[in-house]
Amino acid sequence: MHQDVENIMFSKEQIEKRIAELAAQLDREYAGKNPLMVGILKGSVMFYADLLRAMTIPVEMDFMAISSYGAGAKSSGEVKLIKDLDRKIEGRHVIIVEDIIDSGYTLSYLKRMLYSRKPDSVKICALLDKYSRRVVPIEADYKGFDCEDEFVVGFGLDYAERYRNLPYIGILKRSVYEK
Ligand code: IMP
Ligand code: MG
Repeated sequence: MHQDVENIMFSKEQIEKRIAELAAQLDREYAGKNPLMVGILKGSVMFYADLLRAMTIPVEMDFMAISSYGAGAKSSGEVKLIKDLDRKIEGRHVIIVEDIIDSGYTLSYLKRMLYSRKPDSVKICALLDKYSRRVVPIEADYKGFDCEDEFVVGFGLDYAERYRNLPYIGILKRSVYEK
């Protein structure tokens, strides 16, 4: 385990198993729909790559990048679009793939923006749901795990751009960000 990690919340094996279940569910529910899988950079990259490889139906890939102002352990509520989709989504079934829902600001902004482009549907698939921290009422349609109110890193999730490549999801030691 990494020296800055207090505890492993979800192991590599647990994540792998849960992703396989989500992929099977999406395969069933999106059969014949050629969904557009929209990955939110950068946190969703590991989840996105594993989820899509576990799916067997045809899908298309695209990405968006968002910044919530501030680089610390809390998001500020202000969301800014850094990179938009490459293609139009009118008439498409869109699945937003995100690492974690915390306050909900990011996804409610994204969902509103994507809906304005007249897709057939927009659903949210999030690896983690920190439900107790929600400020804006938004729910994942597909989710990996509920997550306690702890700052977690790994499997794509960062603190100040670090720890994204840990193969598990771990609780970051408070001493790392409360210095
Ligand atoms: P929201 O807009 O508050 O829902 O925040 C969502 C974004 O905040 C996620 O996409 C993450 O980038 C980041 N975030 C929230 N909680 C954590 C965490 O525990 N670890 C790492 N990043 C987090
Ligand atoms: Mg982040």
